[in-house]
Amino acid sequence: MSAQSRVQDQLAGQSRTWLVTGAAGFIGSNLVGYLLDQGQSVVGLDNFSTGYQSNLDDVEATVDPEDWRRFVFYEGDICDLETCRKAVRGADYVLHQAALGSVPRSIDDPLCTHRSNVDGFINMLVAARDGAVRRFVYAASSSTYGDHPALPKVEEVIGKPLSPYAVTKYINELYADVFARSYGLETVGLRYFNVFGPRQDPQGAYAAVIPRWFGQLLNGSACQINGNGQTSRDFCYIANTVQANVLAATTTNVDAVNQVYNVACGGRTSLTDLFFGIRDLLADVVPELTTVEPQYRGFREGDVLHSQADIGKARRLLGYAPEYGSIEGLELTAAWFLERHNKALST
Ligand SMILES: NC(=O)c1ccc[n+]([C@@H]2O[C@H](COP(=O)([O-])OP(=O)(O)OC[C@H]3O[C@@H](n4cnc5c(N)ncnc54)[C@H](O)[C@@H]3O)[C@@H](O)[C@H]2O)c1
Repeated sequence: MSAQSRVQDQLAGQSRTWLVTGAAGFIGSNLVGYLLDQGQSVVGLDNFSTGYQSNLDDVEATVDPEDWRRFVFYEGDICDLETCRKAVRGADYVLHQAALGSVPRSIDDPLCTHRSNVDGFINMLVAARDGAVRRFVYAASSSTYGDHPALPKVEEVIGKPLSPYAVTKYINELYADVFARSYGLETVGLRYFNVFGPRQDPQGAYAAVIPRWFGQLLNGSACQINGNGQTSRDFCYIANTVQANVLAATTTNVDAVNQVYNVACGGRTSLTDLFFGIRDLLADVVPELTTVEPQYRGFREGDVLHSQADIGKARRLLGYAPEYGSIEGLELTAAWFLERHNKALST
C-alpha cells in the first residue's frame, strides 16, 4: 500500500480537529484543502502578512461545499498569545506553518522575521501545551544545515546558520525539543527543502524561484539566475510535504515523535536545469517562450550553494515516501500557473 493510501486510510477512520497556522499561505492552504477533502475539521489562523484571502477562496472553490463547512478561520497574529490560545482550543493536532519565509527578507529585516518566527513560535508552543493538543508538527527548514558542506544532508549534522531566517528556524527546533522534555508536549519538526506547487506566491522581491519564474515567463519579464546556475536544490512537490505533515501528526510509532526530519525528494536539480525545465513546459503551450534565455547575476548573500536531503530517517520512522518527483510536480505546477494566467487574461 502506498504511503498516500495509508495516510488516507488513517484519516478515514477518525475525524479530528486540526489547527493549521499560516492557512492563507502556500503550504498552509494546501494542508487545509487536503484535510477538508479527507473529512477532517480544520481551523485556520493567519494574519495575511504574506498569505492571501485568494488562497482560501481557491481552497473553497476546489473542495466539496459540505467539506468547506468544516473550516473555521481566524484572522490574527501568532505574536499575540491570546490569539494562539483561541485558535488552539479544541484542536487535536497543530500543523504550525505561520512564519516569515525568505533568507533575503530576514537579512533586510531581522527583527520582523524574529518576531513571527521566534516570538510567534513560542506562543504557539505555549498555547499547544496548555491546550493539551495531541501533537505539534511544525515547519522547520533545510536552512538549518547552514555552512555544513556535506551532501546529502542528514538530520544530525548541521553547520552554522547563514542568515537570521536560519537562526529562527533552528531556534524553533531547540524550543520544540525543550517543550517535549520539560512539558511532555509531543512535537515533530519537518525540515522542508524547497517546496513548490500551486498557490506559491510568484510576486515580490522575496518570491521563491519556481513561482517567480513561472510568473515572469508568463508575463514576458526577464528571469534572473543568482550565481552561475550550478547552484542546486532538492525541489519537493507540495503533495509530498502534505503527506509528511499528516504522517508526522498521526504516527503511532513512539520512536518517531520528538524528532526532526528532512522532507524532500532526495534529488538535486541545478538552477540552470530548473529554468530550462520550466521554460520548456510552458513553451509547449506558449511557443514564443521557446527561445527565452535566463540572465545570470551575482550570488545572493546567505544562500547555500548546494542542498540535497537524505530522506532515510523520514522513510524509516514515519513511512514517508514521496509520490511526486520534481518533473511530475513541475508539470502539475505549470498547469496550475497556466490556468491562473488564462483566467486573469479572460477577466
Ligand atoms: N516554501 C518552502 O520551500 C519552505 C522551505 C522551508 C521552510 N518553509 C516554512 O514553511 C512554512 C510555510 O511557508 P510557505 O512557503 O507556505 O510561506 P507563505 O508565506 O506562503 O505562508 C506563510 C503564512 O504564514 C502567515 N504568517 C506569517 N507570519 C504570521 C504571523 N505572525 N501570524 C499569523 N500568520 C502569519 C503568512 O501570512 C502566510 O500566509 C513557513 O514556516 C516557512 O518558513 C517553507
